[in-house]
Amino acid sequence: MLDDIFARNKAWSKKRLRKNVDYFECLSVSQNPDYLWIGCSDSRVPANVITGLEPGDIFVHCNVANLIHPTDLNMLSVVEFAVQQLRVKHIIICGHHGCGGVRAAVSGKRLGSIDHWLQPIREVADAHFADHGRGDWENLDLDRLCESSVVEQVRRLARTPILQDAWDSGVEIAIHGWVYGLKDGLLSDLNCTRTGRLNRMVKPAAGTE
Ligand code: CO
Repeated sequence: MLDDIFARNKAWSKKRLRKNVDYFECLSVSQNPDYLWIGCSDSRVPANVITGLEPGDIFVHCNVANLIHPTDLNMLSVVEFAVQQLRVKHIIICGHHGCGGVRAAVSGKRLGSIDHWLQPIREVADAHFADHGRGDWENLDLDRLCESSVVEQVRRLARTPILQDAWDSGVEIAIHGWVYGLKDGLLSDLNCTRTGRLNRMVKPAAGTE
């Protein structure tokens, strides 16, 4: 099995060099991606593959259910480096339909450490899906919960000192919330983009809710 990976890697490297003899030489000098992707660890949602982007195009951070924990040193280090050093223009938080993390969060089952990790999803569920009991979620509802969670993670990332300071000092950077459909392979924008500390999400006018 592992030999197969090395064989595939060799073939891939050869193919790249056939197209451009300097391919790795150029890429090895530096990286200059415009995007930071924060996605789920799910093997079916590989950022480069589904976006069609090349090596060097996108900086990637993954965790279970693409969550923003304000004390996650790993995530904060990635975001800080991407914002301050790489100067990415766009941060994309991307969830996906059929997310096992979202399902586990509201399953009502005790699974272990992951229960703590998934707590933000239960908070979104309590705030927006209060009529659901634990364990009685249809797939479509889980997909809506996944989308609501992405919107909330965009808000949480926008609240971090890293982004607040970047916007205060005039850096132009946007945070977007997207969702990926496992059944059609398509990305959708959840229209919750934030481009500055005062860029609050537009609330519907009174009486229209
Ligand atoms: Co997932």
